[in-house]
Amino acid sequence: MPVRILDPQCVAKTFPDYFETLFGVVRANVEDIPVITIDGPTASGKGTLTDEVAQALGYDVLDSGALYRVTGLAASRHHVDLADGEAVAALVPTLDLKFESGRVLLDEEDVSAELRQEATGLMASQVGAHPAVRRALHQLQLNFRRLPGLVADGRDMGTAIFPDAALKVFLTASAATRAERRHKQLISKGIPANIDSLRADLEARDARDKGRSASPLQAAADAIELDNSQQTIGESRDLVLSWWQERGPFKA
Ligand code: DC
Repeated sequence: MPVRILDPQCVAKTFPDYFETLFGVVRANVEDIPVITIDGPTASGKGTLTDEVAQALGYDVLDSGALYRVTGLAASRHHVDLADGEAVAALVPTLDLKFESGRVLLDEEDVSAELRQEATGLMASQVGAHPAVRRALHQLQLNFRRLPGLVADGRDMGTAIFPDAALKVFLTASAATRAERRHKQLISKGIPANIDSLRADLEARDARDKGRSASPLQAAADAIELDNSQQTIGESRDLVLSWWQERGPFKA
């Protein structure tokens, strides 16, 4: 029987760490821990939507792209050939990785900014094409399923990693919209960018992600497809939250 706390802020003064403490001591069957998956192509707005939905529900986030990105980065730093799937996969268990509130540490170095670069995205797409690398990263992703719940963002969250997720969203936007968003994002960070070459890059990356034989980018059969080209992030978030209301433990 699910229990809903209507005013979670009521602990703010007397016991501010109440929920951290609670979720540190209670045990749950892993299959009972709710998961929402948000898959889709690059620059579709998955990361932002995932963060917004997780924030609204108080859930954790898995940015699986960051795992592929950090694997690609580490492989290139160790001069491992990105085309050699077995060699890249062998590196995975040796990585010293930490995920701290949106930051990724590799060997204690904050590599978050480097991970966001287009060149790192391309390396991620290359290493992600190898079945051995996908297997090596599988358990690491499952480990993110912790109380009170998880919103997982990637390419195969709903198909390969969390096939039992209660809500699966497949997020798309037109290539023009995605190139424009990526362009804005880079310019706002002071990184020079050209919209036409960005669009060509993201279409090439989509083609590789869709064309590979290991967990290709495709919507799960039971995913809801959402084209957010014409939507604000708030509209997409509210839509996903309304779907969650219909399917989650507290059905209206
Ligand atoms: O979501 P992103 O742009 O950070 O992902 C970077 C690349 O990593 C993407 O082009 C393909 C790969 N990737 C993957 O193969 N599977 C995932 N679940 C997430 C990312």
